[in-house]
Amino acid sequence: MTRETWATRAGFILAAVGSAVGLGNIWRFPWITAENGGSAFLAVYLGIVLLVGVPGLLGMFVIGRRAKRNPVGALRSLSGSNRWGFAGGFLIFSSLVLISFYSVVGGWILRYFGESVVGLVTGHVRYFANPGAAFGAASAGLDAVAFHLVFLALAAVIIVAGIRGGIEIATKWMMPAIFTLLVGLGIWASTQSGAAEAYAFYLRFDVSTLQNNFFGLLGPAAGQALFTLSLGVGTMITYASYLDEDRSLPFDGATIAVLNTIVGVLAGLVVFPLLFTLGIEPGQTGTGAGALFVGLAGAFAQLPGGTLVATAFFAVVALAALSSAISILEISVSFLVDEYGLARRRAAGLVGGLVAVTGSVCALEPSVFGFVAGTLVDILLTVGLAVCLVFVGWVMGRDAITEFRNGAGSLGQTIATPWLFGVGVLLPIFLVFTLLTTFGVDGKIGFWPTVVAAVAVAIAAFVSLRSERSVV
Ligand code: PFF
Repeated sequence: MTRETWATRAGFILAAVGSAVGLGNIWRFPWITAENGGSAFLAVYLGIVLLVGVPGLLGMFVIGRRAKRNPVGALRSLSGSNRWGFAGGFLIFSSLVLISFYSVVGGWILRYFGESVVGLVTGHVRYFANPGAAFGAASAGLDAVAFHLVFLALAAVIIVAGIRGGIEIATKWMMPAIFTLLVGLGIWASTQSGAAEAYAFYLRFDVSTLQNNFFGLLGPAAGQALFTLSLGVGTMITYASYLDEDRSLPFDGATIAVLNTIVGVLAGLVVFPLLFTLGIEPGQTGTGAGALFVGLAGAFAQLPGGTLVATAFFAVVALAALSSAISILEISVSFLVDEYGLARRRAAGLVGGLVAVTGSVCALEPSVFGFVAGTLVDILLTVGLAVCLVFVGWVMGRDAITEFRNGAGSLGQTIATPWLFGVGVLLPIFLVFTLLTTFGVDGKIGFWPTVVAAVAVAIAAFVSLRSERSVV
């Protein structure tokens, strides 16, 4: 059977933007920004998206388009070694962990959306009366399991319809809808009384926080950049594997990153004015998954036209979450289809069945949810991306440059070699460094010793890969 491909270039770009734009932009980004001091974090984050995110994204594209396979098949066939197949298996495992909690949050959103729609009709929105208690009831327990299953089923239906007939068509509708609704919400938010204060918090360039806490911001900013660009679990490898002609990967990658960033920044322009209007200091909403839900639900409950705005807002988040969830599920589905010859429907059924169970565990056990959604996913994504990038730099090597240059135009020709140096050497060191800071190593041994440790770990990896390469 011939492997499916995207029908159009825009189809690929929108599907990848659909993967990138998700809960990470609208739910995670505002509260991580708030927690880390607002505009200072935004500046560091934008820098990391440009210097780490985009080159990393291109690394994933290069693997996928070169191999035209799922992550396991891609790493195995490009290296000629089964061991790399295991590395691909690690990506698949990470994607299943990720979707297990993602689908639960998707379920919460569906519920909030549904209750807002009901409120439009009946004039009574259930979660308005006591947002804190409503979130408590929605976030864990059997209700959370039920909504998680509905969300998962929606994603599976799109997956079963295929690359062109499902993912491409769905994201072609969803992305413009998200942009339009968000711009509308941003305009509405700008008319609220807290808007000026919110913009100051969010957008005023804050040199002193940046100077005082630059290194402290790196870890969270890197984690957020990887998460939002869907890096580290093999989504972008999988999506690029359905490309059949030579498009400019640097151009597509930059477009995707810019569109994704616009949505993230826009989401902040919606969320912060609402919180400030109600006198909620975003940094004080507390950390954790529910803070934003409770804060925003409180805002919608009190503002004029709140039900309509809430409906539009949760529609945006639901669409964004769904278009990302399909990209995460597609990784395992493509693995089963490519490697075992399963029909899509069967593969989607198997993967969906498994995630139905693992997601239910997250929905029932807040401690498991918290662990998975917080540290575990950050670590898996960082390790996954680092592994893929050393693969690009040290196993693919020249092949990666050739693939990068295919269709890339004159700028692409020039930047290919510096890009490979960046993804093969600098980025892995940086990723190991952020990993060490996630484990608090810098607090124990100090900043510079941590840098030295990161360089040492990376060099050890490079050396062992070089020897493996000569064996192949
Ligand atoms: N980028 C998605 C978001 O911002 O919500 C999350 C995500 C999707 C991460 C797909 C990783 C991935 F492979």
